[in-house]
Amino acid sequence: MLKITGGQHLSGTVEISGSKNASLPIIAASLLLEKVTLHNVPRIGDIFSLLEIIVSLGVIVDFTGNRLTMDMTAISLRNMDRELMKKIRASILLLSPLLYRFGTVDIPFPGGCNIGKRPIDEHLNGLREIGYDSVDGSESIHLSGTLQAGDKNLYAGFAVTATENLITANVLRSGKTRIHLAAIEPHVVNLVDFLKKQGANITINYDHTIDIVGVENINPAGEFSIGYDYIESGTFVVFGALCSEEYIDIHHACISGLTSFLGKCHEVGVRFQDLGNDTLRVFRSEHLKAVKFQTNVFPGFPTDLQSVFCILLSQAEGVSRVQEIMFEGRLNFLVELEKMKGHPALMNPHEALIFGPTHLRGATVSSWDLRA
Ligand code: EPZ
Repeated sequence: MLKITGGQHLSGTVEISGSKNASLPIIAASLLLEKVTLHNVPRIGDIFSLLEIIVSLGVIVDFTGNRLTMDMTAISLRNMDRELMKKIRASILLLSPLLYRFGTVDIPFPGGCNIGKRPIDEHLNGLREIGYDSVDGSESIHLSGTLQAGDKNLYAGFAVTATENLITANVLRSGKTRIHLAAIEPHVVNLVDFLKKQGANITINYDHTIDIVGVENINPAGEFSIGYDYIESGTFVVFGALCSEEYIDIHHACISGLTSFLGKCHEVGVRFQDLGNDTLRVFRSEHLKAVKFQTNVFPGFPTDLQSVFCILLSQAEGVSRVQEIMFEGRLNFLVELEKMKGHPALMNPHEALIFGPTHLRGATVSSWDLRA
C-alpha cells in the first residue's frame, strides 16, 4: 500500500538504478557458471523473489547493497521451491540453465503481472527444437532430454523472455543457432553482453536475428555490471514534466534506449535537454497537446511505458489515442485513472482514447501491474 500526498513539486537529481529486466535473465543465465558477481543489481521485489528461488536450488547468495554474488557449487533440484516459481514471470528463465545442468526440469507455469495471457509456447517450441521433450501437465511444465548438436533455426516471436531463454539454452550447444524474430530490447542486449564476456559467441543482427555459435565452455567465474533501467528513466521523465518545480536531472537516463519514447514526449510538448554523460534535464512542461501512439517491439514505443505515458496524456489538450498491440490487459488500469477524475475511454482491449486536460484528484486506486 502506497499513500501519496499530492501537490508536491520535485526538484534535484535522480540516479536511475540497474535494470530489473536485465538483472532477471542475467541472474538466471549465471546458473551456467560456478561463481558470479553482479554489480548495479536493483533492490526490488522481483529480484528478491527470484533469489529466493535460486537459494532453494542450493545456490549460495550474498546480496549486499547492489552487489550480488552467487556460488553454484552445490546447486541441485532437490529442494527447488515450486510455489515461489508461480509468483514471478521471470522464473521461466530458469528453464534453460537448469535443463543444461540436469537434463530435466519440472516447473509450475510462471506467474507475472496480469497484463494478458502470457503464453510460453515460443519458449517450449524452441527448447523442443534443440532436443528437449516436453510433457505439459495442467499445472506444470516437464521438460527432459539431451541437447542435440547441429545447426538450428529457432523462432522467438519478438517475445523478450522467450528470446532470452533461447539464447541461454544455446550458448553451450554444439552447432550454430539462428534465432529469428528475436527481441532486441536493451535488456536482451545486456544479457548478450554478459554471456559474451564469459566467452559465448553471439551476434545480434539488424534484422532481429541473433546468431549463436556454440562453445565448449564458458568462464566458470564471471563478473558483470548490470545496465541501467530505461523504463524507470522514462517514468521519471513524465514525473519531471508534470511535477517538477522547474526541472529535474536524471542520471543514467538511458537516452539511447528511449528514442521512440522521447520522440513522443517531444511531440506532446515535453521540454528536455541532453546534458551529456547520459544525463537528461526534464523541465516542467505546460500546454501539452494530445497525440496518438502505439506500443511496439524495440526500438518501437515500449509497452512498459504505456501506462506512464497515458498519465502524461491525461494532462494534454485534446483527444489522444493509445494502441497497446502487445498485451490485451494492459489498458485496464485506465479504470483507476477514472477514479482520479481522468477521462479515458477504453474502446477495446487494445485501444483507448484519453480526453484532456483533466484535473486529477486523490483517490484510492489499485495497481494492475507494476508499471501502472
Ligand atoms: C517481458 O515479458 C518483460 N518482462 C515485460 O515487462 C514486458 O512487458 C514484455 O517483455 C514486453 O516487452 C521481463 O523481461 C521479465 P511475454 P515477457 O509475456 O517476455 C507473446 C515489466 O513491466 N508470446 O512473453 O515475458 C505474448 O502473447 C514486465 O517489467 C507468445 O505468444 O513478455 C505477448 O504478446 C511486464 N508466446 C508477447 O509475446 C510465448 O511463448 C510478449 O509477451 C511468449 C510470448
